Amino acid sequence: MRKILVIHGPNLNLLGKREIDVYGTVTIDEINKDLEKLAKSKKVALEIIQLSHEGDIVERIGNSKGKFNAIVINPAAYTHTSVAIRDAISAVDIPTVEVHLSNIYAREEFRHTSLVAPVAKGQVSGFGKMSYLLGLEAAIGLIEG
Ligand code: DQA
Repeated sequence: MRKILVIHGPNLNLLGKREIDVYGTVTIDEINKDLEKLAKSKKVALEIIQLSHEGDIVERIGNSKGKFNAIVINPAAYTHTSVAIRDAISAVDIPTVEVHLSNIYAREEFRHTSLVAPVAKGQVSGFGKMSYLLGLEAAIGLIEG
């Protein structure tokens, strides 16, 4: 069975309590439940993790070669700062979809740059929980050709 790794970056464990005006009331558990439901219907297996530390994310991506067919990642704040995460994605050469709950281009200027976007297959930004579901659909589409 095809396997997809879903990575939630820092502070996404606080969803539902965090900046509700920006991110809404959806919780990470609700997102994960819907991702699992979609994956089941598409007959793919998921591993979902939330990691707060940059190095942990880098390590996890680095260890994914040969284990996962695709990655869906919300790098959260590291989107805008992390050369290390970008290089890890580049290094493992696993098709990767970048997702964001909020529309990063409609927010502060420092969020308009994603260091991950150039090494991702594509980006989904601004649709709340739907960004993850669309991102997963895209990842499945990529691995099924
Ligand atoms: C985010 C957008 C980032 O700019 C921010 O730092 C996050 C969440 C999003 O999903 O909209 O933590 O990645």
